[in-house]
Amino acid sequence: MKKTTHRPAQKQQRIIALINQKGGVGKTTSVVNVGAGLAALKYRVLLVDLDPQAHLTYSLGVNADELEATIYHLLKGEADFSQARLEIHNLALLPASIDLAGAEIEFSTEVGREAFLANVLKGQSAYDFILIDCPPNLGLLTLNALTAAKEVFVPLQAEYLSIKGLTKLMEMVEKVKQRVNPALKISGMIATQYDRRLRLHNEVFENLKNHFGDKLFKTFIRRNVTLAEASSFGQSIFDYAPHSYGAEDYRSLVQEILKMG
Ligand SMILES: Nc1ncnc2c1ncn2[C@@H]1O[C@H](COP(=O)(O)OP(=O)(O)OP(=O)(O)O)[C@@H](O)[C@H]1O
Ligand SMILES: [Mg+2]
Repeated sequence: MKKTTHRPAQKQQRIIALINQKGGVGKTTSVVNVGAGLAALKYRVLLVDLDPQAHLTYSLGVNADELEATIYHLLKGEADFSQARLEIHNLALLPASIDLAGAEIEFSTEVGREAFLANVLKGQSAYDFILIDCPPNLGLLTLNALTAAKEVFVPLQAEYLSIKGLTKLMEMVEKVKQRVNPALKISGMIATQYDRRLRLHNEVFENLKNHFGDKLFKTFIRRNVTLAEASSFGQSIFDYAPHSYGAEDYRSLVQEILKMG
């Protein structure tokens, strides 16, 4: 990645939630590597792990079991932002822990529960980008992400049902937009784990292109085992294997994200 010595100009903070209720589609991998790619270009980036599985936290080499303050404590109002925030290389992280698994039920009777994350992020204007990694469901945590975010990116794998499953997500985005967050929009679909040798993948992605037009990023993230290896070593693809296809693809996706709108 080309390094600049000065921080690039960024007009407005972008808060982006990566959501797909289907598991294993590349949400966490995209949060880590888009985040790291932006940070390498000197943007100030905050990553938020909103998934009780804490995969984002582990993917950055942090042991979620040993943390005293996490996003759970922030949502509950039991910790300050600076107590929970970790600095990892050039990224800031609000880590998760398994405590978050109980949050859906625990918060279920609390007033304003859909806006807890929005309140946590309010005033965090030091960051150019805030990327939120969501769990694979459309429950209260995802609702919090939609209430706090301005944009949604949807990572997708090439499967015949990948479009069908999106209807529910789109309905939820529409409701949140109408009721509490008028600026919210689905701004990008990310094709992940793409294998151009598979006819199925080409057919499905052709279909996605027809369906979503410009919203589908032109960069397809190819299937590349190095991406999985990098996260098992707690590293971004740019640190672990900067010359891999995975690094090439995420670098190119970052450029598209910067050119949007
Ligand atoms: N482009 C890719 N090529 C190969 N493996 C990948 C790729 N992207 C992600 N993976 C691997 O696929 C698995 C699922 O990816 P990831 O954890 O990013 O998905 P997710 O949508 O966050 O899953 P969950 O819904 O469980 O949170 C992980 O093991 C990850 O390392
Ligand atoms: Mg994940």
